[in-house]
Amino acid sequence: MDPTRKQKQEAKQQAEQLMRNIGVKGVRLTDYEMSIAAQLIDPGTLSIGWQDIGGLENLCQEIKETILLPLKKRHLFKDSVLMQPPKGVLLYGPPGCGKTMIAKAIAKDAGCRFINLQASSLTDKWYGESQKLASAVFSLARKLQPVIIFIDEIDSFLRSRASHDHEATAMMKAQFMTLWDGLITDDNCEVIVMGATNRPQDVDAAILRRMPTSFSVKIPDRAQRLQILQILLGNENISPDINLSQLAGETEGFSGSDLRELCRNACVYIVRDYMRSNNVMEEPPEGITDQLRPLQIDDLRAALERLKESRHLNPMNLVEVTMPVD
Ligand SMILES: Nc1ncnc2c1ncn2[C@@H]1O[C@H](COP(=O)(O)OP(=O)(O)O)[C@@H](O)[C@H]1O
Ligand SMILES: [Mg+2]
Repeated sequence: MDPTRKQKQEAKQQAEQLMRNIGVKGVRLTDYEMSIAAQLIDPGTLSIGWQDIGGLENLCQEIKETILLPLKKRHLFKDSVLMQPPKGVLLYGPPGCGKTMIAKAIAKDAGCRFINLQASSLTDKWYGESQKLASAVFSLARKLQPVIIFIDEIDSFLRSRASHDHEATAMMKAQFMTLWDGLITDDNCEVIVMGATNRPQDVDAAILRRMPTSFSVKIPDRAQRLQILQILLGNENISPDINLSQLAGETEGFSGSDLRELCRNACVYIVRDYMRSNNVMEEPPEGITDQLRPLQIDDLRAALERLKESRHLNPMNLVEVTMPVD
């Protein structure tokens, strides 16, 4: 009796389908490798690309040069030791500024395999199981290389000295590090481990050492906020009198995701006005076109006011919340 049998079988089916989609042929995988392979990303299913990321051109360019080009044009770099792609990459910075978006754009554009490793798939397992899965991550990666293993919110997985860790988890982490070292020292192995975190201070120093290439994704400045707003509102029906540059100036301290919230909240007023002036249950009278009005500056202003108010009330924004370090 294996209580995880059904789960494993589902993962296997999913993994086989995925591998067909991304064109992996002729590799034999163990059951454990299959459950990790279920976390492969099919780039064809990703909608986010570089063009959706606002205000980070320089950073994205740097990532393309240091990671993607050496992966895509291996022949140009094969004779150089110094120009090999890094084996460990860390994206860090405050929440909502585009780290996960960047990872998605990389996955879409990399032209190599990309595993979106869910830390919980390793930690929420029966005793002994998690270690086998950890080693499957690396043996799978070797079979599928070149490959990027992405671990989002890596601090929660490999956080520093978590003394409350279960013994099995602690062993799995130690093993993960050892296997990772195996990759780092193997010159013929094209596997990149990429992590993202909002809390670099919580990531174990031993991990940081293994990720010598790091990219800081900062809170956007005014010019960057303008670019983000232009992307967010690019496909919307907006009134020509909206001055996005001014709005960018009024949203100091906002992250990209705050700006998205702002725009989404502003759009709610359009729907509200529609509901007030139309009888939704009935077809509109002949000759009247049924449409939503464009987004106005007043909608954005009202949404901005409310957001600023709610931020003010939210104690999370007043004191920095730090996790106890034990
Ligand atoms: N630079 C940006 N350009 C455009 N949208 C952004 C940007 N940063 C954040 N966003 C918006 O905020 C959402 C959350 O961003 P995300 O990449 O998940 O942040 P992080 O991983 O850094 O916490 C994105 O889905 C997007 O809608
Ligand atoms: Mg994220």
